[in-house]
Amino acid sequence: MSNNYVELSNLSKVYPTPKGDAVIVKDFNLKIQKGEFVTLIGHSGCGKSTVLSMLAGLNDISAGGIILAGRELSGAGPDRGVVFQSPSLLPWMTAFENVMLGVEQVFFTAGKQERREIVEYYLTVVGLADSMDKKPAELSQGMRQRVGIARAFALKPKMLLLDEPFGMLDSLTRYELQQVLIELWRKNKITALMVTHDVDEALFLSDRIVCMTDGPAAEVGEIMEVNFPRPRERKAVMEHPDYYRLREQLIEFLEVRAHRQPAAQAGPKPPVAPVVSPPQPPVEKIPPSADAEKFSKARLNPA
Ligand SMILES: Nc1ncnc2c1ncn2[C@@H]1O[C@H](COP(=O)(O)OP(=O)(O)OP(=O)(O)O)[C@@H](O)[C@H]1O
Ligand SMILES: [Mg+2]
Repeated sequence: MSNNYVELSNLSKVYPTPKGDAVIVKDFNLKIQKGEFVTLIGHSGCGKSTVLSMLAGLNDISAGGIILAGRELSGAGPDRGVVFQSPSLLPWMTAFENVMLGVEQVFFTAGKQERREIVEYYLTVVGLADSMDKKPAELSQGMRQRVGIARAFALKPKMLLLDEPFGMLDSLTRYELQQVLIELWRKNKITALMVTHDVDEALFLSDRIVCMTDGPAAEVGEIMEVNFPRPRERKAVMEHPDYYRLREQLIEFLEVRAHRQPAAQAGPKPPVAPVVSPPQPPVEKIPPSADAEKFSKARLNPA
């Protein structure tokens, strides 16, 4: 029996346009193991979000298919948690109510107290223990994204799909949220596919990095294994003897090999620089986990 939890087979996306069919993604093949963290990296416009949105069931598949946990996917479902660049929260609801909205739909057989505990737990784990009753307008962008992450995990999906979830955040907040995400992923053992532009983010988070070729007809170019020990500390990862070699390899793919195209469609392409954040000092302080620990202790030993 196959160990693959997710299988994208010859996945293709074609948009009809007045000038004929635009083939965005063609024969995209990828297998993901249960519990794996895979990132998808490639130039802007190559088709990363297109692949992710087909997997989320938010975009029709033109050809090929996707299997998740032994079942062929058709349409969206709560078995896939999605986190986008901005979390589209309902502005008239508090952080708590925004997360509860999905939890009520997915865990409709659970008791009110149990649902409440799920929402409080995930909001606490992402560091929002003191802000659950705030509305989105009263939260910073980073805090809103924490709500989005809490919401995705609270639904206990089979798979997590993230499309540049930290793309709009400053680098310090991004580092903090990467840490929050990877801790949650590790504890929940959720299979994850995340789109990113950022090579350092990909190296810090991933078990494997899937590099996509440029479009049209984008496909998997190369797959890089990232074997840094887990749990990962940013400082240790950056000091790992393989770090700069892998980083160079990724940048070289993006600068050179990503431009490979099917002969029939080859044509001049403007070079697009990959996003490479300059190496930064590691963020040592991770308040969310401390909060979460306090929260769990309080739950286990109520006063
Ligand atoms: N509805 C549509 N009709 C025609 N072309 C589309 C449509 N939606 C997306 N595209 C094209 O598909 C290509 C891939 O888009 P996609 O959003 O997947 O890229 P991406 O790799 O996620 O880019 P970015 O990194 O900038 O987010 C783009 O060239 C885009 O113009
Ligand atoms: Mg995109």
